[in-house]
Amino acid sequence: MKDRLFDGISASAYWDGVIQRVSGKAHYLDAFLGELKRQAHWALIQRWGGLPRTGRILKTDLFEEAMGPDAYLTTLSDNGGLTIGVDVSPAVAQRAQGHDRSLRACYVAGDARRLPFGNDAFALIVSPSTLDHFPDPSDLGRSLRELARVLEPGGRLIITLDNRQNIFDPLLRAVHRLGWVPYFLGRSYSIRELRHELESAGFVVQETTAILHNPRLIAVAAVRLAKKLRWRPLMTLVQRTLIAAQRLEGTRVRYYTGSFVAAKAVRNMAK
Ligand SMILES: C[S@@+](CC[C@H](N)C(=O)[O-])C[C@H]1O[C@@H](n2cnc3c(N)ncnc32)[C@H](O)[C@@H]1O
Repeated sequence: MKDRLFDGISASAYWDGVIQRVSGKAHYLDAFLGELKRQAHWALIQRWGGLPRTGRILKTDLFEEAMGPDAYLTTLSDNGGLTIGVDVSPAVAQRAQGHDRSLRACYVAGDARRLPFGNDAFALIVSPSTLDHFPDPSDLGRSLRELARVLEPGGRLIITLDNRQNIFDPLLRAVHRLGWVPYFLGRSYSIRELRHELESAGFVVQETTAILHNPRLIAVAAVRLAKKLRWRPLMTLVQRTLIAAQRLEGTRVRYYTGSFVAAKAVRNMAK
């Protein structure tokens, strides 16, 4: 693993810098879009087995909890077990912890490519578009093997990655190249690639889908325009359209419209 990544600085220093730059500014997701994203992830977790009755839960980054509108780590702690969020950036972890006044979860600075946890430690791991932010794409396999190591036998991984097949993915990449995305985007993945990476890392894939069926850039622009114009009927129309678009998940075009590919996987006990 290359340790000095982003133009000579470490991953933790790079992401510390990102959170310092974006905090204090309005999040690119407003309250409505943040809630739509939060609900899409929460619905997936519930549909794919819900919270484990016992055992620890891990979330592999804390950006949502640091920023606010799409946070759900404390909801994961509703099973009463230990819930841990890890993030390579100490600043992100600290900011996330600051939003959890009653400390319902634990906030740890650590790297998904070499997790600071022992083997078989977690019953459920939720990895929400964390492992698609590596400058070196081979780090996806490395971190998936780490997730397999810390997952207990019979434990579940629910993972999402940026969707390469999304028809708007080339537009998002172009905007990223222009420097208009506030942070580094790594590779995006097709569902076939995600499945292959999981199987190579020692997982058995049980379910797949694609979630969050709104072109991110267009959804953000539409909500901003409706807010700027302060025209209530337009705002209602935009919000209703975005909610209705989530039904695309139940159709054959889901892998072309979803922002994220998603999989539920368990450790391959034969390995
Ligand atoms: C820009 S956010 C996007 C992911 C976030 N779940 C979301 O959907 O908004 C990327 C997050 O992943 C964290 N991150 C990047 N590399 C990581 C690594 N190797 N281990 C753990 N966290 C990492 C960053 O610090 C940042 O908080």
